Amino acid sequence: MKKFLSLLATGLMVMTMAACGNDAKAESSKTTEQDSLTAIKEAGVLKVATSADFAPFEFHALVDGKDKIVGADVDLIAELAKDLGVEVEYMDMEFNAVLTALQQGKVDIAISGISATLERQESFDFSVNYYNPPQVVVINKKNADVYTDLASLKGKNVGAQKGSIQEDIVTAQLPDSTKVSVPKVPNLIVELNQGSIEALVLEKTIAESYIYQNPDLMLAEIELTSSEDEAYAIALPKDSGDLKTEIDKSIQKLIDNGQIEEFVDKNIQLANQQAE
Ligand code: ARG
Repeated sequence: MKKFLSLLATGLMVMTMAACGNDAKAESSKTTEQDSLTAIKEAGVLKVATSADFAPFEFHALVDGKDKIVGADVDLIAELAKDLGVEVEYMDMEFNAVLTALQQGKVDIAISGISATLERQESFDFSVNYYNPPQVVVINKKNADVYTDLASLKGKNVGAQKGSIQEDIVTAQLPDSTKVSVPKVPNLIVELNQGSIEALVLEKTIAESYIYQNPDLMLAEIELTSSEDEAYAIALPKDSGDLKTEIDKSIQKLIDNGQIEEFVDKNIQLANQQAE
């Protein structure tokens, strides 16, 4: 009897293992895409990397006396999370670390006014584009008549955020200037105010927000060439099929009903209020 029971037990075990084996096979033949979307929904949390130094897209603000990450990107993510039925968890870091965190799997997605460049597309998937500001040069008002074209910045220190496409823009379009790379945008603004850099390359919407808070600064009348792949998109791991489809659906809805523009306008106001 004992022997029979133990044989029966072994038989059952083998059967369960076989069943598991089948499951495992079915699981592994599923595409990785389905897994990331399913995993996020099952966890109930969307982990997002950002660099909250970039008003009006992501910045720190006091909301009811508490420090919070706010911005147009944050509003966009809130809508996306609502559509996915999950909570959001932010990891705030220097811009230079944002795509690395995504690559290392520390987060599910990254949003940070990230330009979906062809080079970045080699390593990451990107959502549809949701915003496309031109590139501008910021200078001190007192130099309004000094820095009037690209040539006038020859031999001068020009700032750009570390890891941003603005670094490449300085290299390509201001080859005779000295590029100064700084990790955070507010520190670039300080350097410009202090005169350790003479000019700073930023995207227009961001430049205007920081100029409002720093009335001694202004947009220079210097034309930079924008390339087509500078528009903002959410970065995802490569082959994010189903997750990308869902994200694109949410973003397209926000674009179509004008909400992205609303988010930007609302957060320009919010950033301005913080400065007052
Ligand atoms: N659009 C530029 C880029 O992708 C700058 C983005 C900087 N974002 C930020 N949150 N600091 O390189």
